[in-house]
Amino acid sequence: MNKTQAAEKLSKYGQDHVLKFFDELDEKGQKALLSQIDETDLSVLDHIDQAGKSAKRGTFSPLKAMQREEIVRREKEFYDAGVKAIKEGKTAALLLAGGMGTRLGSDNPKGMYNIGLTKDVYIFQRVIENLLDVVRETDTWIRLFIMTSEKNHESTVAFLKEKNYFGYKEDKVVFFKQDMAPACDYNGKLYMEEKDRISTSPNGNAGWYSSMVRAGLDRILDDEGIEWIDIFGVDNVLQRICDPCFVGATVQAGVSVGAKVVKKAAPDEKVGVMCLEDGKPSIVEYYELSKEMMDAKDESGEPAYNYGVILNYLFHVPELKAVANNTMSYHIVEKKIPYIDENGALIKPEEPNGYKFEQLVLDMIHQLDSCLPYEVIREYEFAPIKNATGVDSVESARELCKKNGIEL
Ligand code: UTP
Repeated sequence: MNKTQAAEKLSKYGQDHVLKFFDELDEKGQKALLSQIDETDLSVLDHIDQAGKSAKRGTFSPLKAMQREEIVRREKEFYDAGVKAIKEGKTAALLLAGGMGTRLGSDNPKGMYNIGLTKDVYIFQRVIENLLDVVRETDTWIRLFIMTSEKNHESTVAFLKEKNYFGYKEDKVVFFKQDMAPACDYNGKLYMEEKDRISTSPNGNAGWYSSMVRAGLDRILDDEGIEWIDIFGVDNVLQRICDPCFVGATVQAGVSVGAKVVKKAAPDEKVGVMCLEDGKPSIVEYYELSKEMMDAKDESGEPAYNYGVILNYLFHVPELKAVANNTMSYHIVEKKIPYIDENGALIKPEEPNGYKFEQLVLDMIHQLDSCLPYEVIREYEFAPIKNATGVDSVESARELCKKNGIEL
């Protein structure tokens, strides 16, 4: 793309200011900016009028979870089916590590955070060690994809290499970068993070499949006959990944996606809850849960919307491929966005100053036809680290690790 073409594209979206410093840039900077303008999907800015409004939702109804009683009763059947799928190489794991981890407040990728007390125990180490349990149990190396972002790719790759992948087999690990989305001020004007760069941020945790395809990694899925991908967030240090019972139950159920869920601690707990929306699987956010839904009971007298998601989903690849070209909506989130002002000085705002655009995994699930919510025990499998202290923090995760006999 040359300067005239870039100017035309920008002008269509009222973003002419992006080229303000263009003539001061050296050749490398000019080239970098032109190629970023070329690659950036500016059509997300068309949705700016949706900012601050909650997305229009359909009609919710309950979706039954498979509960512990059934899982324990059918354990052998599920375990055997899961081990079979894993041994046949049909199952892969995908670590979502493209987030910015702003709440934790560390400059490094979240996975590099050390939660150890008497020795080093990194977040990456915890999740890899959990996956290694399954590798040992099934005597099978599971393909591990790691999604990073432009902002943390180099440091993530260098760190894991330096730590020898915490015992994981190097040639089973594949990294790819998540696509980025531009960030703008409250009037929809793009921020610049440098004179030769539009401000961008990772495009949300649903960006993983399109980013993976764009990186050409769907070829690995085809070549290796991978049929199931277990995606999981980096920050749950008790996360069980590709555990045979979960894999087996999902395979046996013949659904498009399995979702690990935990029983809610209280009716108003701040967690997204699995449900149906217009008859298709979906997640209702805690702030969308009406009083009626909170009070609704199923036929056994249990709350009907009672199972919260923990960002661990096992997707069936054929169904993912089938919906890959559907357009997914963007969620517009208010964030603190560093930018350069009209004089080129870098400003790091203390308060939110604009919008980022994210695609969320819940929208991906809603495109699919069927889902199995699969109950896991919170104390054994859910210790998220979002904040440095307080709720869902390093402290609370340490406590839970200790309860599970993990030395820190
Ligand atoms: P969070 O929603 O907790 O976001 O991500 P975050 O960016 O890590 O943290 P904050 O909100 O800035 O404090 C949940 C999981 O999804 C991944 C994160 O890495 C984490 O594993 N994620 C999130 C991505 O991979 N890409 C994204 O664009 C967003």
